[in-house]
Amino acid sequence: MTTSADTNVDVQERPTWPQIVLTGFMGAGKSTLGALLAERLRAPFYDSDTLIEAATGLRIAELFRQGGEASFRELEHQVIASVAAKPGSVLALGGGSLMHPDTRRLLSTTYIVYLAISPTMARERIANTTDRPLARTANFDELLNLRESTYRSAASLIIEVRDEEPTKTLARVIASLPDGFNPI
Ligand code: S3P
Repeated sequence: MTTSADTNVDVQERPTWPQIVLTGFMGAGKSTLGALLAERLRAPFYDSDTLIEAATGLRIAELFRQGGEASFRELEHQVIASVAAKPGSVLALGGGSLMHPDTRRLLSTTYIVYLAISPTMARERIANTTDRPLARTANFDELLNLRESTYRSAASLIIEVRDEEPTKTLARVIASLPDGFNPI
């Protein structure tokens, strides 16, 4: 707690760092790493897929079945808007969230970490999941290639995903963050 000299009004200590946003393709580890990072920084953690499922009471796959991808993207945009750019927090996006131009705009003041994964590793990691409707798409490599430039141009930091324990990736992210991203 600090006190303003001018007004003598108590001013709550606020985290000074911008929201850290994790982006990247399916299987890159955004949710796992986001939770670990938030824990390390003692910061609130938001996960867009989890928030969408909580808000609708439906699984992502069911939302795709009912309304298709375009309707899912709108819903995703609205949910992200409710938590976007909150300073001193961590937000893990879904793999396609940044493809919505309005979502990119909402996050333009945040610190975006792009977890870059190869198509081969992504395919291996998500081979057995049933809750990712786009995971079985025939043009999986093409989808990643199409998104790559958007991920890269939005990124404040790019971390190559390796076959390693999430805590090791966490250490690489922490080591690469600029000064000032400290525990709250
Ligand atoms: C999607 C990725 C998924 C989820 C939805 C669509 C995508 O999230 O949002 O299935 O378009 O890449 P993850 O990246 O967490 O798997």
